[in-house]
Amino acid sequence: MTIAGNPPDVLPQANEPCWCGSGRRYKRCHRASEGRVLPGVISPMRSVPDHIERPSYAATGLVERWDEPVVKSDEVIERMRHAGRVAAEVLRLSGEFLRPGITTDEVDEYTHGLFIERGAYPSTLNYHGYPKSLCSSANEVICHGIPDSRVIRDGDIMNLDVTGFIGGVHGDTNATFLIGEVSEENRRLVRVTEECMWLGIEAVRPGRPLSDIGRAIEEHATAHDYGVVRAFIGHGIGEQFHTDIQVLHYYDSRATTVMRPGMVFTIEPMITLGSWQHRMWDDGWTAVTSDGRWTAQFEHTILVTEDGAEVLTGGDGAVSAGNPLSL
Ligand code: MF3
Ligand code: CO
Ligand code: CO
Repeated sequence: MTIAGNPPDVLPQANEPCWCGSGRRYKRCHRASEGRVLPGVISPMRSVPDHIERPSYAATGLVERWDEPVVKSDEVIERMRHAGRVAAEVLRLSGEFLRPGITTDEVDEYTHGLFIERGAYPSTLNYHGYPKSLCSSANEVICHGIPDSRVIRDGDIMNLDVTGFIGGVHGDTNATFLIGEVSEENRRLVRVTEECMWLGIEAVRPGRPLSDIGRAIEEHATAHDYGVVRAFIGHGIGEQFHTDIQVLHYYDSRATTVMRPGMVFTIEPMITLGSWQHRMWDDGWTAVTSDGRWTAQFEHTILVTEDGAEVLTGGDGAVSAGNPLSL
């Protein structure tokens, strides 16, 4: 018996029928994708109890956009601090839950429950129709992997991206976790990716253009011969999950928007061992590296302050309490 999306421990010979049940020879079917992440079965959407306040797209999957001030009021910022803390705690606990042998759908069930216990709506659920309460992106998956029947394996690197809606605002954070014995090459990728995120956060300063952030990230990635994914970027956030502010993770002289105290946006670099180019799975969500080499990501929601940045998804409840580079 195999669970969809998971090859058996003992693989067929080249000319034997493929393990997936397609009836084709193994060499003409799944052999080429051996070691790759494969799509599994996605369980039905989980429900959210009625007492939990939900964003307008929750019922329809349709995301309406409206103009939202780029500089937030103190009152909105206070609510965003709370949403950020909730997201940070859910990310840490979900990361602690990870282990080889469980499916990413089991992680989704657990994370979904964590949000609900805290009175939060899992923002990804039905966002443009996205079917789950977090994104789980393993190995060569760049981002937006959908939790499914794939079993987590020893040696995987697993990004969990969680966003919670509470008090009318969103908090968005992610981290890449090491599962068991991870190769030295992949551990270095994960460490340098986290450093890239913190260098991006350190570049946040009122009066400076957003391009400073991308420059800091790209310089560090390039120094390690890594790629910076260009197709997915950081974003403004607030009462809406994604607002107009765009935060590139590479240098572009056109990113001239000046940072101002009270702005809130995410910094979420995706860094690759090989090519930064991506391909999409047929599910329309899962982005993988075009060459199948592994990739990592870290994300925080950031408030621009009078003299730098406040990490709204940081603090004691978070995966790592602070910037490892400043220790
Ligand atoms: N949390 C992701 C981000 O950092 C967005 C996920 S949207 C989803 O922007 F629909 F894919 F869940
Ligand atoms: Co984000
Ligand atoms: Co996110």
